[in-house]
Amino acid sequence: MEGDLRGRSAEARENKRRDAASSAAIVIIFLLVALTHLLALASHFGAADPLIWWQQWAYAADDGPGGNAVAPDQLLSPDLEDKNSAACLSRHEASRRWKPTQFPVPPYLVERLRRYEANHRRCGPRTALYREAVSRLRSAARNADHAAAGDRHHTCKYVVWIPTEGLGNRMLSLVSAFLYALLTDRVLLVHEPPEMQGLFCEPFPGTTWLLPPADFPHKLDAAAFSSHSKESYVNMLHNNIIRYGYGDDARAQVLPAYVYLHLETVFLLTESVKLRLQNHTFCDEDHRLINKFDWLVVKSDNYFAVALFTMPMYRRELDRMFPAKGAVFHQLGRYLLRPGNRAWGIVDRFFEGYLAGADERVGMHVRNKQIFPVPPEIMFEQILRCAREHHLLPQVLATSEPPTAEAKKKKKKAVAVLMLSLKPEYHDKLHAMYYTNATADGNVVVSVHQPSHDGEQQSDARAHNERALAEIYLLSFCETMVSTGWSTFGYVAQGLAGIPPWMLLPVNRSKMRADVACVRPPSVEPCMHPQPSLLTCQQGAGLRHLDDPVKRVPFLRHCEDVPLGLKLFD
Ligand SMILES: *[C@@H]1O[C@H](CO)[C@@H](O)[C@H](O)[C@H]1NC(C)=O
Ligand SMILES: *[C@@H]1O[C@H](CO)[C@@H](O)[C@H](O)[C@H]1NC(C)=O
Ligand SMILES: *[C@@H]1O[C@H](CO)[C@@H](O)[C@H](O)[C@H]1NC(C)=O
Repeated sequence: MEGDLRGRSAEARENKRRDAASSAAIVIIFLLVALTHLLALASHFGAADPLIWWQQWAYAADDGPGGNAVAPDQLLSPDLEDKNSAACLSRHEASRRWKPTQFPVPPYLVERLRRYEANHRRCGPRTALYREAVSRLRSAARNADHAAAGDRHHTCKYVVWIPTEGLGNRMLSLVSAFLYALLTDRVLLVHEPPEMQGLFCEPFPGTTWLLPPADFPHKLDAAAFSSHSKESYVNMLHNNIIRYGYGDDARAQVLPAYVYLHLETVFLLTESVKLRLQNHTFCDEDHRLINKFDWLVVKSDNYFAVALFTMPMYRRELDRMFPAKGAVFHQLGRYLLRPGNRAWGIVDRFFEGYLAGADERVGMHVRNKQIFPVPPEIMFEQILRCAREHHLLPQVLATSEPPTAEAKKKKKKAVAVLMLSLKPEYHDKLHAMYYTNATADGNVVVSVHQPSHDGEQQSDARAHNERALAEIYLLSFCETMVSTGWSTFGYVAQGLAGIPPWMLLPVNRSKMRADVACVRPPSVEPCMHPQPSLLTCQQGAGLRHLDDPVKRVPFLRHCEDVPLGLKLFD
C-alpha cells in the first residue's frame, strides 16, 4: 500500500505545523516529513585566522569610496552592477557579509549563467517570442511542432515553478528548478503568490522571472496541481496520452499544451517507511519525452537537484558546471536568491545593531516543533552538550564574581550568539546563563540575541516570510552554526554560507536523550529527503536492479540526519 498524504486541501496544509525532527520511531518520521522543515550539517572551517581576516576585509569595505573595493561576485551578471542597484541592496551587501568562499567559481558555470540570461531576455515575458509561446499554449496548439520541424532555434521553452510548503522548502525547490532550466535550455518562470511578493530580487538582468498569472491557461497555485492532475506526466504516460519514443519517428503526434511534473514527497508504507518521489520522474527516457514539451509546470517540496545528478543524460553537463559537487546549492543559491529590500532591511538593521561589533558570531537554529517535541530542557541540554564537546561557546563558572583586576587588563573578546527559534525559551536560558555566571576566560563577553519568536510558522504571511528569509541570511553570516537536523531552513543557511553546521541529531526516544549531541557533515549541500525511484528506469544502464544510487554515483551519500536521504559531496 502506498499513500500520498498530501491529498488534502492546500489551506489545511498551509496551516499545519510542519516541523519535522527527531524520533527513532518510524511513525514519527513518517508524520514529521508530512510536515517538513528541518536542519543542518558540518566540517572544518574553524580556523581562527580566516575569521579575523574576513572581519577586517568586511569592515574595510564599509569605509566607502576610499576603502578597499569589494571583490565582484563573479556569479552575478555584470549587467546587474550599475543599473539600479538600489532596487536590490542585498546583491552586493550580502556578498560582502559572507565569509570568502572556499569554493572557486567554475568558469564554465559562469558561461552557462550568462548564456541562460541571454536566453531569458530573448524568451522572457514581454518579448515577441514569449507572446507567441503563450498563444500556442492558450490555443492548446501542437506543442512540439517546432521541435519536430527542427526550428528549435526560434522556439522558447519554459519551466513554470509553483511554490509549496515552507520557505526553506521553496528555496530548495526553486534552486532545483533553475538547475533543471539550465540543463534543458528552458526559461524559468516563477508563480509569485501574495505571500512571496517582492521576497526575492529579480535575478536576471533586463527581464523578469515572474509569470503573469493571466498568461497561463490553468489556475496557478499549489492546490491546483497534484499527483492526480490529468496534466501530470505520470498520468499522461499511464493513460497513453503520450508514449516513449514520440518524435523519434517522422510522424508528428499531437502533444498536450503543457506537462506537469509532480515532485512532491510520496510516503511508501511498504517494508519500512520510505520517502520517495513518483516513479518515472528521473529516468532518462522520461526526460527525453518531457523535454519535448515547450511548457513544463513543476511543483516540489524538496531539493530535487540531487536527483538530476543520478541521470546519465545530464551528467556530462553537470560535471562541467560543477567540478565540485559540494557547491551546487552554494553557488546557485547565492546567484538566484537575493532578498528583496524589505527583507534585507531587517537583515541589515539586526546585523549592524547586534552582530557587526562582535569578534565572533555563533548562529543557532533550533526547531523543536514536531508532533512529539522533546521537552525544551532536553533540547537545551543537547545544545549545551554539543557546544561543550566541540568548543563552540565559552564555558561558564559556577560563580558570578568578576575576573581579577590582572585578568581584566587583557583584551576583551565579544562573542555574539544569534538564536533563531519560534519560541523564546532557548534564548532566555542561554542569556540567563551568560548574564548570571562568569565565563571561564574572564575576558570573553557573550551576548545572546533573538530577532523574533513568531510562535507558529505561518507560510502564508508575507511579513513572516520576510522575517524568515532575513533570519536565514543572518544565520549564513555567522562563522559557526548549530542547527537541528531535518530543517530545510538550516540547509539553506549552510548552503548560502558554504559552512557546514554542527547538526543536532534526533534524540533516542527510549531514553529521551541523543546518544551523540551533534555531528558535522562533510558537505554543505542540502539533503534531498525523498529518494528518486530509479528502479523503474528501463534504459538507465544497470539501474534496474540497483535502487540505491549511493552505490553507483561516487559523489552521493546518505544524509547524517535523514538516513535514506541523499546529498551531494566531494
Ligand atoms: C514504483 O514502481 C515500483 C515497481 O513497479 C513499485 O513497487 C513502487 O511502489 C512505485 N513507487 C512509487 C513511489 O510510485
Ligand atoms: C552558574 O552558577 C551557578 C551558581 O552561581 C551554578 O549553580 C550553575 O551551575 C552555573 N551554571 C553553569 C551552566 O555552570
Ligand atoms: C536507544 O537507546 C537504547 C538503550 O540504550 C538502545 O538499545 C537503542 O539501540 C537506541 N536506539 C537507537 C535508534 O539508537
